[in-house]
Amino acid sequence: MTEAGGGWVLGIESSCDETAAAIVRADGWVRSDVVYSQVPVHARYGGVVPELAARAHVNAVVPVVRQAMEQAALGWSDLAGLAVTRGPGLTGALLIGVQVAKAISFARGLPLVGVNHLDGHLLAVFLRRGQADPPGPAMPFVALLASGGHTSICRVDRADRIVQLGATRDDAAGEAYDKVAKLLALGYPGGPVVDRLAQDGDERATRFPRAMRGATLDFSFSGLKTAVATWVRTNGRPETEQGLRDLCASFQASVVETLVGKTVRAARREGVRDVVLCGGVAANKTLRARARTACDEAGLTLHVPPIASCTDNAAMIALAGALALARGVRHDLTLSVDPALRVGM
Ligand code: KG4
Ligand code: ZN
Repeated sequence: MTEAGGGWVLGIESSCDETAAAIVRADGWVRSDVVYSQVPVHARYGGVVPELAARAHVNAVVPVVRQAMEQAALGWSDLAGLAVTRGPGLTGALLIGVQVAKAISFARGLPLVGVNHLDGHLLAVFLRRGQADPPGPAMPFVALLASGGHTSICRVDRADRIVQLGATRDDAAGEAYDKVAKLLALGYPGGPVVDRLAQDGDERATRFPRAMRGATLDFSFSGLKTAVATWVRTNGRPETEQGLRDLCASFQASVVETLVGKTVRAARREGVRDVVLCGGVAANKTLRARARTACDEAGLTLHVPPIASCTDNAAMIALAGALALARGVRHDLTLSVDPALRVGM
């Protein structure tokens, strides 16, 4: 990245079901990175329960922040500022992180910046956790951002100039995984287990629809979810393990083909060379492999952050915040949450 080093920034993330804190510099260097996952709290409900998420954040946030400070071996006076996710996400969950960040900012006299969670995902490719980390992409780049709450294709010109080229019109890709997993009684979150089963399945077993196949960079995944539900209603839940693997592989083939096809089309249309995958779904094995092949064929350079940088974390929030602080962005104690924040806002 071109923006200069600067000091250590503490980032706090509480938009959904991870309570996270991390300390990062504007050059992407990660000094500490702590993620407390609430998955066990929500697993029995097959999805995130907003009220339970907020309560779990209340309990976890102070220990998680303390752990990030201890891991970094830094004191409050060593910090240059604070960054916190201000949206999008669950209102009650976001409020916990924002209140804690404001309290620390007030008590320690540290500059505060509210961060768009989506900017965090899009910039996570610049996080550096070790000397061997490959250099990030050149800007502008095209990014596929696919997670449990959002699915979009963006062009990142600069950290503060991000243009959304297309987005889902209904369900997010990760949401489709989670709903299909729930339908097949595979537990929550669905992505990792469906991905694992699909690795040994025959994706030609069932041909599920590919929605919005034209030139549009928008997505739709709710029809695919319904197609899987109809399949299960007609044929019943597969009785054999292989049947389950084949069904997961067939579903995954539809999602991945759509995500990869539109991402490559976007990169060509925008005339950029670098392509980035980010968000929790970027952990998907088949997505990573097929994106690699498609980018190679199209003469594009693919960048995929390590899984810890793809799924929700506070290091990406600290980095986006450190870059904003370096540009002179500041928020005061009137900072509020925006649960419906969109890319580029
Ligand atoms: O980015 P993330 O941690 O949280 C949000 O901001 O939503 O993404 C979580 C989503 C979940 O829907 C989860 O099922 C999905 O990412 N996911 C995956 C995989 N690992 C996580 N989806 C497909 N394949 C995976 N391996
Ligand atoms: Zn996320």
